[in-house]
Amino acid sequence: MKHFLDIHKTDPDELRGIIDNAARIKNARDGRPKGAPDDDLPLKDHIVALIFEKPSTRTRVSFDVGVRQMGGQTMVLSGADMQLGHGETIADTARVLSRYVDLIMIRTFEEQTLLELAEYATVPVINGLTDRTHPCQIMADILTFEEHRGPIKGKKVVWSGDGNNVCASFIHAAGQFGFNLTFTGPETLDPEPGFVELARSKGVDIEIERDAHKAAQGADLIVTDTWVSMHDPQSARERRHNQLRGYQVNDQLMAQAKPDALFMHCLPAHRDDEATSSVMDGPNSVIFDEAENRLHAQKAIMRWCLER
Ligand code: CP
Ligand code: NVA
Repeated sequence: MKHFLDIHKTDPDELRGIIDNAARIKNARDGRPKGAPDDDLPLKDHIVALIFEKPSTRTRVSFDVGVRQMGGQTMVLSGADMQLGHGETIADTARVLSRYVDLIMIRTFEEQTLLELAEYATVPVINGLTDRTHPCQIMADILTFEEHRGPIKGKKVVWSGDGNNVCASFIHAAGQFGFNLTFTGPETLDPEPGFVELARSKGVDIEIERDAHKAAQGADLIVTDTWVSMHDPQSARERRHNQLRGYQVNDQLMAQAKPDALFMHCLPAHRDDEATSSVMDGPNSVIFDEAENRLHAQKAIMRWCLER
């Protein structure tokens, strides 16, 4: 069973194959009307369950469209409407869904839900975001970086802000794809030390630098994300804004990076909080390419999951 649960749990050669396949899938659609099916339909006669226990625009639409373009059908399920939200165990849910559908994508809160689903499902399971990681996003981001700037290996990525789930998957990707990453943010919002150590053990530099301007020097890519994630209590909002204000990605911060440094944000963004509109809409921003590339990257991930 080939689950796509996390970047650090997937072999680097397999990850490289997925990215290359995503680029091929994207190029093959050149000039085609957006909703048109692909030439080959690997998901023909396949049904994919898309489970959401949290809100989503990009993940929901890109998975749904991707499945349809590959000839399959989707079933979008809200966690709250399923028995999963009313006491049925995840293990039983996994076993039942596996009798109906060919693939499951889940966006959930605790990572344990994803892991249990994968343990008991007899069909592949894909992580569509947990409180801890967001691997599909970072696969799209690697594809985006490489189509603009070539191989990411050896480059310097700077994460400015909260060391959250998206940051965690970027750190995992640093280890697997061989790039260096500097985290800059307040100590209380540092990424998980275990993730940092794991990436370092693979021979890449993972630095923690409290001074955002120092951190950004020489960066090939600056990335940020919302200061308050879906799993964070809203009561934390004001405190986090105070803590993170100095880590806003603005023109002054971008000026510390290389002149051709890209800017990324997985979206949704809170404009003029974590990043200014001048950066988000500026010449080095690739935020909408990232959003588009969710589609192509996830099609490659689904194909990989279903390969025998
Ligand atoms: N980036 C991302 O996962 O967006 P959604 O929350 O809209 O799916
Ligand atoms: N860190 C954000 C990412 C949203 C796609 C969250 O978890 O809410």
